[in-house]
Amino acid sequence: MQKIIEGIDKLQEILEAINSRKMFMVIDSSYPFLNIKERIEQTSVTKVCFSDFSPNPLFEDVCKGIDLFSAQNCDAILAVGGGSSIDVAKCIKLAVLAAEGSDALIPPLVSKQVEIEGKRIPFIAIPTTAGTGSESTHNAVMYYQGSKQTVTNDGVLPDYALLEPKVLATLPLYQKKCTMLDALCQGIESWWSVNSTDESKGYAKTAVELITKNWRKYIFDNDSRAASQIMLAANYAGRAINISATTAAHAMSYKITSMYKLPHGHAVAVCLPEIWEYMTAHPEHCIDPRGKEYLTDIFNQISKGLGTTGPKESIAFVRNMMNEMNMENPVAVNREQELDILAGSVNPVRLKNNPISINEQTAWYLYNRIVL
Ligand SMILES: NC(=O)c1ccc[n+]([C@@H]2O[C@H](COP(=O)([O-])OP(=O)(O)OC[C@H]3O[C@@H](n4cnc5c(N)ncnc54)[C@H](O)[C@@H]3O)[C@@H](O)[C@H]2O)c1
Repeated sequence: MQKIIEGIDKLQEILEAINSRKMFMVIDSSYPFLNIKERIEQTSVTKVCFSDFSPNPLFEDVCKGIDLFSAQNCDAILAVGGGSSIDVAKCIKLAVLAAEGSDALIPPLVSKQVEIEGKRIPFIAIPTTAGTGSESTHNAVMYYQGSKQTVTNDGVLPDYALLEPKVLATLPLYQKKCTMLDALCQGIESWWSVNSTDESKGYAKTAVELITKNWRKYIFDNDSRAASQIMLAANYAGRAINISATTAAHAMSYKITSMYKLPHGHAVAVCLPEIWEYMTAHPEHCIDPRGKEYLTDIFNQISKGLGTTGPKESIAFVRNMMNEMNMENPVAVNREQELDILAGSVNPVRLKNNPISINEQTAWYLYNRIVL
């Protein structure tokens, strides 16, 4: 069971509880500028730092981390960074513990929960963006030979998620927007996911409500209380998707990211309103076994969570939010060719969580609206 703890002051206590001798720290290039760096460095444990990877990390990056971890004989992992750093740390942990080593991260093993039971490397994650919720999920994303791979294993869920919102003070404005939109889309998608449970819907509701109440102050006023609420929201959204997984907006965003170089949260957020509009117009394609009426009720609950009166107004709410933040849709260069590539790129397995069925033809229709 993961422990979620607030405040960087608690780090020393956590380190004492796990009794680490040599800590492997996974950090990104923002680490030297973080306002929590000094507190981390004051802690009394030997640290080995690894930062030789880029956002949207590659398998090859992860392998360098695996080699360093083993060569230095570390016994615990501390990830400090956004989703990319936390995901690199998860992949390193899995590869170090799995009998299959780094093969556990690539096809065909990547789609299996390889055995790492009974072995332990204590793992602490300190998120420095408020968006992915990766500190509270059992997934990690990395690229192998140009394709996005999602590693899923219960053993990579961090033992401790340490939330310190003051770290968001240095996050560039555009990154704040992208990451907050990722959390909002996770919350909405988790709420309507075919795999939702009462527990995941509770987390999703909290995430969506916290973002609705605090997003303006967080983005436009740099308000520290709003920042702490958004960090909490992102963590709730992570906990929600850890149960329900994400749906079509995430599935359709991945090629938008690689084709138009839009960061993850931005890419998901341009997909969401179009998909939502299509879903509300086509209840007859409902594939959630709980039925059409159930889904209509969920759409209404989401609208309440967003403080709106119905799905139409909720979609407008998200579009207005994007406009206010100047988050633009991607623009095609070779339209027909790009739409064909986009529509053919969507992994049908990832669409199974979506409550309204979406096939390649529908995906083409949707991309035609998403891409300007
Ligand atoms: N594992 C999961 O459950 C999960 C969920 C959603 C997304 N993801 C993955 O997470 C990655 C995206 O993560 P992200 O959006 O957090 O961004 P990121 O980790 O890629 O970081 C983006 C940039 O922000 C900088 N940065 C981070 N924190 C900062 C701070 N406080 N101050 C200044 N600069 C800072 C980083 O140095 C980097 O340049 C993607 O690869 C995505 O697929 C994973």
